[in-house]
Amino acid sequence: MGTTLAVAGKGGVGKTSFTALAIAALIKAGKSPLLAIDADSNSNLHEVLGIREPRSVGCIREDARSMGDDIPGGMTKDRFMEYQIQASIEEAKHFDFLSMGRPEGPGCYCMANNILREIIARLTSNYSLVVIDNEAGMEHLSRRTDEDVDHLFVISDPAPRSLRTIGRIVELVKELGSRVRHSHLVISRVNGSPDHLPESIRKQIESLPYSPESYIPYDEVLVNMDLEGQPLVKIPSDAPSFMAVNKLLHDIGILP
Ligand SMILES: Nc1ncnc2c1ncn2[C@@H]1O[C@H](COP(=O)(O)OP(=O)(O)OP(=O)(O)O)[C@@H](O)[C@H]1O
Ligand SMILES: [Mg+2]
Repeated sequence: MGTTLAVAGKGGVGKTSFTALAIAALIKAGKSPLLAIDADSNSNLHEVLGIREPRSVGCIREDARSMGDDIPGGMTKDRFMEYQIQASIEEAKHFDFLSMGRPEGPGCYCMANNILREIIARLTSNYSLVVIDNEAGMEHLSRRTDEDVDHLFVISDPAPRSLRTIGRIVELVKELGSRVRHSHLVISRVNGSPDHLPESIRKQIESLPYSPESYIPYDEVLVNMDLEGQPLVKIPSDAPSFMAVNKLLHDIGILP
């Protein structure tokens, strides 16, 4: 069983950017092939990874559901979905990519979801590293549609409202119990030294249940790459945001 990393936090705090930087650091350290999973229904992880958007697990689930028992080639529904999911995996040079797509619409999806859970568990066990970019909130984890997580990165920018959501995420993480082994608080988009954050923000950070393990600087290199539509996974190794994420992965023992 490999190591699963997942990223969570409020909307717009920098989760997808963090995921791309972490994948860049893992690739640079030779930790491939790894599996990147976009678990955000407004998916854009593929863009920062510079690949096309594959057919999503959500679409496959819809198709399998609308087919009823009418599965082509005499396949069982399980086999059919497994085959379709295998085929939907986008293979890049250093990583594979799976898009979870939209959550289910109205109706009963329990059976499809149970099948999916098993398929995805089997699939992820083929990789030594799985990195999951989640949507804002913790629904994926709390709905238990994800794998267990070895390292959960809880991302917040240094703004009062984002920091307040950390408390809620911590509560959800507690409910998940042993399914999340380690949680790491990361403060993203920090302009200048963390010591120069406004006192009220520093106090708010100090009162959080976790101490930050990384402050990721506000990075013009990253901003310009985003503006120019360049995939962040190609960020130069001396970009400040890359260096911070790379150091964090070393500090917590994911990279040697
Ligand atoms: N270290 C950084 N320095 C400067 N800008 C950053 C940094 N990290 C992220 N950003 C910018 O912040 C914005 C939001 O980032 P991102 O898309 O990664 O957030 P998100 O949490 O994934 O958002 P969503 O909840 O919509 O999925 C982007 O415009 C991105 O360029
Ligand atoms: Mg995102």
